[in-house]
Amino acid sequence: MKYLVIYYSKTGNTRKVAGAIYDALPGEKRIKPMNEIHTPEENDLMFIGFPIMQFGPPARASQFISRHAAGKKIALFVTHAMPCMSDDPNQEAMLEKELNRCRAACSKSQLLGLFHCQGELSEDIARELIASGNPLLMEFAGMRPLTIGHPDPEELEQARIFAVGTITP
Ligand SMILES: Cc1cc2nc3c(=O)[nH]c(=O)nc-3n(C[C@H](O)[C@H](O)[C@H](O)COP(=O)(O)O)c2cc1C
Repeated sequence: MKYLVIYYSKTGNTRKVAGAIYDALPGEKRIKPMNEIHTPEENDLMFIGFPIMQFGPPARASQFISRHAAGKKIALFVTHAMPCMSDDPNQEAMLEKELNRCRAACSKSQLLGLFHCQGELSEDIARELIASGNPLLMEFAGMRPLTIGHPDPEELEQARIFAVGTITP
C-alpha cells in the first residue's frame, strides 16, 4: 500500500497532526504540504488535512479534493478552534455543522474516516479575526486562551491511532 499525507496549515497545528499520522503509517509513504502538489503521485489512500476556516473547509482544500480526490479513497484530518466537547449545545451543533461541511466537500470521494481536534488559535490570527468585523469570528478570537497548547500530546496520539485504524481492514 502507498500512502500520501497532504496538508494545508497556516500556523502549524494541522502540520503537527499530519506528522503524527505520517509517523504511524507503515511502508511506502510520503508527506507534503498541499501547495507543493500539482498532481498527487499514484497512491492507494490519501490522508488530507486542513484547518477549519470561516465555518468550513478552506476553499483551497475543497478545490484540491474535488480536483484530485474524486473517486479516490481518502481520510480527512481537521483542526479547529472550537472545543471538541462543550457544555454549550449551540457550540456543539456549530462544530458538527462545520465538520459536516468538510464531509460534504468529499462527496465525490470514498471518505474512509475523519479525525478532528482542537488547534491553537495564534495571537496573530486572533487579531485578524477581531479585525474581520464578523461577530462570530470575533467570538472565536475570544476562545484563544482555551485553545493554547492544542493539538496536545494526547490528541497527537489519537491521530496516530486514527491512522492505524483507517488502514486496518
Ligand atoms: C481565517 C480563519 C478563520 C477561522 N475560522 C474558524 C472557524 O470558523 N471555526 C473554528 O473552529 N476555527 C476557526 N479558525 C481556527 C483554526 O481552524 C485553528 O486555529 C486551526 O488549528 C489552525 O490550523 P493551522 O495551524 O494548521 O493553520 C480559523 C482560523 C483562521 C485563520
